[in-house]
Amino acid sequence: MKFLQSVFSINSEMVNGELVIGGCKSSLLAKEFGTPLFIIDENDFNTRLKSWKSALDRHFGAQAGTVYYASKSFISIEVAKWISSSGIGIDVCSGGELAVALAANFDPAKIELHGNNKSEAEIRSAIKAGVAKIVIDSHQEIERVNRIAKEFGVIQTVLIRLTPGVEAHTHEFISTAHEDVKFGFSISSGDATKAAQEVEALANLHLAGIHCHIGSQIFESEGFETAATRLIEFLAQFRDRNSRELPELDLGGGYGVAYVEGETTYDPDLAMSAIASLVKDQCAKHKLVVPTVSIEPGRAISAPTTTTLYEVGTTKNVTLDEGGIRRYIAVDGGMSDNIRPALYGAEYSALLANRTSTSSEISSRLVGKHCESGDIIIREIDLPSDIGPGDLIAIPTTGAYGRSMASNYNHMPRPAVVAVNDGTARVILRRETQEDLLSLDVTEAPRVIN
Ligand code: LLP
Repeated sequence: MKFLQSVFSINSEMVNGELVIGGCKSSLLAKEFGTPLFIIDENDFNTRLKSWKSALDRHFGAQAGTVYYASKSFISIEVAKWISSSGIGIDVCSGGELAVALAANFDPAKIELHGNNKSEAEIRSAIKAGVAKIVIDSHQEIERVNRIAKEFGVIQTVLIRLTPGVEAHTHEFISTAHEDVKFGFSISSGDATKAAQEVEALANLHLAGIHCHIGSQIFESEGFETAATRLIEFLAQFRDRNSRELPELDLGGGYGVAYVEGETTYDPDLAMSAIASLVKDQCAKHKLVVPTVSIEPGRAISAPTTTTLYEVGTTKNVTLDEGGIRRYIAVDGGMSDNIRPALYGAEYSALLANRTSTSSEISSRLVGKHCESGDIIIREIDLPSDIGPGDLIAIPTTGAYGRSMASNYNHMPRPAVVAVNDGTARVILRRETQEDLLSLDVTEAPRVIN
């Protein structure tokens, strides 16, 4: 069975038939920390943080803004500390994500708050903490942020999120900048102009620029370029109307990564060089000073750093109507720790992690342990025919939207996340316990509510 380095974290290798990550053997990690287990390659994470920052700096020079790591893809206090030490910023889109950043002592001047329906409490916590920017997403929010900033006696720097009408080439659920979408202000309908004028008129808001995020898991530069072109046109119109230029442009995240053979992870340098030349050309065309450009990669940093380790529990063979056999291999996790295959039809690679097999490979379906036929991790994959109970299966590229979208379906405790580095391993997010889950149940006397 082939080890596909391109979908595993940088410090992953096969040694004597066993998957070793960050110098730690899979079998020992499973023994020490249990399964399912998220194994995050700390050095890889830090390397990717740096490569996005240096690509932005290299291609935008003095106009390089901030790389805001999209914490929704995966965050924990320890990871927030890595991000903070690397000097990049963080994008949070809920009070919870903000709380993690603050618990890690993240510099508020490098925090940006997102969300299409931020609560007043979330806005209040963000302003109280002194976050650098709030990205305003709706008309109601303009008034809310202004009012709360006034309460605190501050002028809050804001961006407005625009929808440039781009159909990103990705799954419908993760495409976010076409017209018929819940996010942001439409440019083509004039809503964006209206929002900008509303913000301009309010004393406790400082409009620094505009933002867009076209979607996620995108491989072509075309969508980013179309979006940037429309945003820069908007900047020019804003200048003509208000006699001042908006100094900031935030182009969101969305850079795709390889999950399976044949895919190529978006190279930060290629991504930034294409966008930088387009931004410079378009600004020259409209006689605009090039704004500072920020980006918000999430998946591109977190996804490739992490591998999920499962233990096989049961197998069965099914005779197919069309002839042949499908082998089901069931592991001890599934849709509660990785909802992406069920939600988006996402594809993953897999590897027998604990030993070499000389058995022939047969068509297999890797499934979880949940009570749903749709609890499939990989629909169709050739795996050694002797895989059986006790074997370890590694699924690479699970660092983004895996643990962060995990649930307790079937009352499954969410797995631990262990950081590996140079032959050492440490828990950075502990495994939930049955006690954690049971502690939410209460027996309360009824109260009169009427
Ligand atoms: N900025 C904003 C405003 C976003 O909404 C997102 C992702 C990002 C940045 C980061 O995008 P990334 O670089 O990670 O593609 N759960 C889905 C992805 C949802 C993305 C939501 N927003 C998945 O598992 O594919």
